[in-house]
Amino acid sequence: MDDEYLDNAAVSDTTAASDAGKPAGAAESQPPQHQEWREEFPYHWRADDLVTRRDTLRFLVAGSGALFIATAGLALVGAVRPDATAQRVAVARVGELAVNEARVFDFPDQYGQGILVNLPGKGLVAYSDVCTHLSCAVLYQADQRKFHCPCHEGYFDAFTGEPLAGPPVRPLPLIELQIEDGMIYAVREVER
Ligand code: FES
Repeated sequence: MDDEYLDNAAVSDTTAASDAGKPAGAAESQPPQHQEWREEFPYHWRADDLVTRRDTLRFLVAGSGALFIATAGLALVGAVRPDATAQRVAVARVGELAVNEARVFDFPDQYGQGILVNLPGKGLVAYSDVCTHLSCAVLYQADQRKFHCPCHEGYFDAFTGEPLAGPPVRPLPLIELQIEDGMIYAVREVER
């Protein structure tokens, strides 16, 4: 702030010095409002620049803080929200599927399907029937114990869901099963 007043004083002195060389009466001819704006806005332009930068910094810090708090809040909501895919859908009665037989069922709703297979030597397994290449529905090939995707000749191992041939590189999502009171339920899709 000292600089401001020095600068103001310097400006005043310079004005006085330049007025000294003028004919008498010229100094008085300065418009009377010459200093009025200084009284109304007594900051030197350099101080004004500092204030602006300080305000910008404050804005950035406050903005970053608000963004951080909002992100943390969303993460918290996501953490406590129940799993959107966790739901129970009855798919078959125990013993209803013969060994090596498969059944397609709606999961998690009518817009998505899973496929339940009673695998020889392993028992019941279920996967999403949506091919991990471009989302065609896969079919169970009982003679080869594989899932076949007819769109681009993709194949998946029925015991693991892993891709065996064709363009798919990711395994079929597993569907977790639960058995209760003689009923088989699909409860959750597990991305892998
Ligand atoms: S969509 Fe299944 S192999 Fe392409």
